[in-house]
Amino acid sequence: MNEQIQRNLKEMEINKFQKDLIQWFIREQRDLPWRKDSDPYKVWVSEIMLQQTRVDTVIPYYERFLKKFPTIEAFADADDESVLKIWEGLGYYSRVRNLHSAVKEVVNHYGGKVPDSLRDISKLKGVGPYTAGAVLSIAYGVPEPAVDGNVMRVLSRILLIYNDIAKPATRKIFEEAVREIIDREHPSYFNQALMELGALICTPTSPSCLLCPVREHCQAFSAGVEKDLPVKTRKKSTKHVDLLTAVLKTNNGRRYLIRKRPSKGLLANLWEFPTIEDGSFSPMRSTLSTYLKNELKIKARLETGSFAKVDHVFSHLTWTINVYAGTIADDIMEDVSNYLLVTKEELEEYAFPVSHQTIWKTYKEKNNL
Ligand code: ADE
Repeated sequence: MNEQIQRNLKEMEINKFQKDLIQWFIREQRDLPWRKDSDPYKVWVSEIMLQQTRVDTVIPYYERFLKKFPTIEAFADADDESVLKIWEGLGYYSRVRNLHSAVKEVVNHYGGKVPDSLRDISKLKGVGPYTAGAVLSIAYGVPEPAVDGNVMRVLSRILLIYNDIAKPATRKIFEEAVREIIDREHPSYFNQALMELGALICTPTSPSCLLCPVREHCQAFSAGVEKDLPVKTRKKSTKHVDLLTAVLKTNNGRRYLIRKRPSKGLLANLWEFPTIEDGSFSPMRSTLSTYLKNELKIKARLETGSFAKVDHVFSHLTWTINVYAGTIADDIMEDVSNYLLVTKEELEEYAFPVSHQTIWKTYKEKNNL
């Protein structure tokens, strides 16, 4: 932390700030399902879901998740397919794979009790400083910082911090600041109040300063620079990939060909319709049928034109998928690993990326299935 930030911290009336912030939170907090219960397992699940995903999107997933896996033991016992299926559509699937490994570790090595020390909880898979701080403070009342992008935005304004929040090293500066100002009696309220302020008032482009409960403590407001903060440099531009996908039905019309993605990398272990990158100059349809013939020894009859074009945006990548329908023989695919022939009902039990769910939905609509 540089000297300027230390001076800005000294300027603050910390007790008054804590009181203004927490009283506002008690009055104005949203009624969110994970605020009904401070069970560490439930807090943990909610905090993992809320990383990179909006509150409105998370709510139904959170409720479904806890209905299916109401206890940490129930989740530890779940099979990998059902774990991915319940996360289907939430994205960033390594979050749930890590959560599942970590929960098994807690059940096997900590008797099912989520560790309440920074040292132990930080050893769990997928538990970084944010998750550790959020679970420790919200579930156990431990005064640890829980600094995410929203909290950095709020504090960059209150304390006039100009460090670039796109840089990973910057988070530590904010954690040090939180250690100075956190309410040691009410760390759960304090951390959640900062998050809530970021969500409801201290928003990215047009903060509602006139409604802000801590405006009198805000050094950016006082200097009239709240809209210049936080400093956040742009990410590199995203890569684009063109893909070709085939929805292949067996001749008897009863089964479809799907395959499992590799266990590492993007969308690991999810299922999809056979897909290749379209890097060639030959017509898409012949590229796809050549691939199917060479790689899978399948003679597919593809329809002439693609029936759908699906775009998908990831954080670092965009896809454009041209999709063809086709038919294959009923008796192929005895032992090509990672490929399966499944009925329509079976198919819907597997977890697919959003783009392939869209493909399937479009296919069903076009074929009145
Ligand atoms: N974002 C991250 N954690 C949150 C929480 N507990 N409540 C609301 N928004 C959040």
